[in-house]
Amino acid sequence: MKILAINASPRGKNSNTLQLVEAAIAGAADAGAQIEYLDICRYDIRYCTGCGKCYQTGECPIQDDYADILSKMQNADGLIIGTPVYINAVTAQLKTMLDRMADIIHCQAFTRKYGIVITTGGGGGTDDVISYLGNTLQVLGANMCGSVGAIMAEGPEKFEQQKNEATKMGKILVNAITNQIEFPEQEELHAQMRVRMSALVSANRENMQHEYQYLKEKGWIE
Ligand SMILES: Cc1cc2nc3c(=O)[nH]c(=O)nc-3n(C[C@H](O)[C@H](O)[C@H](O)COP(=O)(O)O)c2cc1C
Repeated sequence: MKILAINASPRGKNSNTLQLVEAAIAGAADAGAQIEYLDICRYDIRYCTGCGKCYQTGECPIQDDYADILSKMQNADGLIIGTPVYINAVTAQLKTMLDRMADIIHCQAFTRKYGIVITTGGGGGTDDVISYLGNTLQVLGANMCGSVGAIMAEGPEKFEQQKNEATKMGKILVNAITNQIEFPEQEELHAQMRVRMSALVSANRENMQHEYQYLKEKGWIE
């Protein structure tokens, strides 16, 4: 079982979020997963230009590190996504990567993957980030297994507790993958997304040929 852990703090080794991501990695490793860690701020990920070529070909024409990162995500059974709260949202680096993933959403290509979300904020904002990233995982097709949000102003003792929570969350992620756990309310959203994306891609099939073929092969378009 492969898990890809991403941290989107630009603070490298000094990142608070990294401490929680590392705790989740330790939990997942203890439960038997093979884990790769990516500090996405060290990679060259450029802005989506909205050219729509990925809809046609399945590939982004921008020559940067995104294709490698996407391939690592596609090869993983589970994702740990960590980000600090920046102005009540994820960091620009993470958003830039997510904006490159419209083709993944149209294809619901992360179906049967599992993920957890980790965030730290100075004084708050963690609930907003968890809500956004949890929803993003689901609209990509993946199942959201849980989250940990730590508020640094709550002090070191509380942060230690959150590290333990992150370790537990790493184990929960591995258990969900091992047992292919289904979350009924998320299955409902996945079903709605498949219908919505099939309708969108069918209506635009001339400009979305790769996605049309992909969804047809999946049997989601008749
Ligand atoms: C540009 C910037 C924006 C931030 N915005 C918020 C915010 O909206 N709410 C908050 O509680 N903390 C905010 N913070 C504080 C960070 O979320 C907090 O220090 C976090 O733990 C940093 O994580 P890191 O060490 O992993 O980078 C911000 C910090 C920076 C540098």
